[in-house]
Amino acid sequence: MSVKITKSNKATSSEERTKMVANPGFGKYYTDHMVAVEWSETEGWGVPELKPYAPISLDPATMVFHYGQEVFEGLKAYRQPDGGVALFRPEANARRFARSAARLALPEMPEEMFLETVEALVKQDFEWVPGKIGESLYLRPFMFATEVGLGVRPTDKALYLLIATPAASYFNPENAVTVWISTEYVRAAIGGTGEAKCGGNYAASLVAQKAAAAQGCDQVVWIDAKERRWVEEMGGMNLYFVKGEGAEATVFTPKLTGTLLAGITRDSILSVASDLGYKVEETMVSIDDWRDGVASGLITEIFACGTAAVVTPVGSAKSAMGTWMTGDGNPGPITMQIRNTLLGIQHGTIPDTHNWLRKVL
Ligand code: PLP
Ligand code: COI
Repeated sequence: MSVKITKSNKATSSEERTKMVANPGFGKYYTDHMVAVEWSETEGWGVPELKPYAPISLDPATMVFHYGQEVFEGLKAYRQPDGGVALFRPEANARRFARSAARLALPEMPEEMFLETVEALVKQDFEWVPGKIGESLYLRPFMFATEVGLGVRPTDKALYLLIATPAASYFNPENAVTVWISTEYVRAAIGGTGEAKCGGNYAASLVAQKAAAAQGCDQVVWIDAKERRWVEEMGGMNLYFVKGEGAEATVFTPKLTGTLLAGITRDSILSVASDLGYKVEETMVSIDDWRDGVASGLITEIFACGTAAVVTPVGSAKSAMGTWMTGDGNPGPITMQIRNTLLGIQHGTIPDTHNWLRKVL
């Protein structure tokens, strides 16, 4: 299997690209190329094609527009000290992409094909990978139903696309984010699609995100659908709590119950925090634990984590039950230590003892 390559003859000038990469934002600029792979029930997977980044044209009756059969991933390529580029745990994204696809009745792309497409695009557009710590090339693989028809059934055709955007931090780590604990809406229930990374989950979350913004909050915290008391995750990030201080601290995160997204950053932090000498737990965390823990001082720090957000401190939490502040509202020392360690591993300045980096160049 190999990727067919058609290079753009209208590539961005190096002057313009340098300007964009110097101040990338998030999702503001896209690189010169993308990768496409078609799938059909009768033919299986086609040959991946790297080609100029361009709009696509679809029939208005294409199924994805009507029934939302779509999945996506998010992963990053980081500049290394030798000027090369490495991906962070792309195999984990490949596996999760296949699991999400299975849940949405879409075809499971073979792991090797997923990795091949990602490596091909990074190799082609490597000049778009920013150089500063905390910056990266964010890769967005996605796949959707392309059969034309209005019958509600699993599609017999799908299109996989991969695009890339240079990215700074999604949030400024110096400012803790404020969160809105949503008690009105729920994100996911057992048996639903909470564990899958599908666009529909995000579509359904936007009204709560709007409610959060109206309360002056940056993000939504979701609680469980059944008992409405267990903390699950945020709109696009998992959550961590720190109990105690210094070497005796415990770092804990809500357990994967089948409704949360199994974050790759979340999983990496379980190892990083343990390597740093902290006790680590995956456990059920209730909103009472949160409120009482910050009130008594038992919970000293809270942070959110994800590919886009890396590690972002969480300051105050607002909800219909009141407002609770963590510590003095500033980023805590353990949060920043974990953030800096993870970024160090990703940028190749701290030894990669877990073999998480996949060198592309
Ligand atoms: N939870 C949700 C709902 C997300 O969208 C994300 C982002 O991908 C995460 C958690 C964090 O996952 P990861 O660390 O794999 O990026
Ligand atoms: C990511 O961290 O990759 C995400 O998908 C979060 C958000 C931008 C949707």
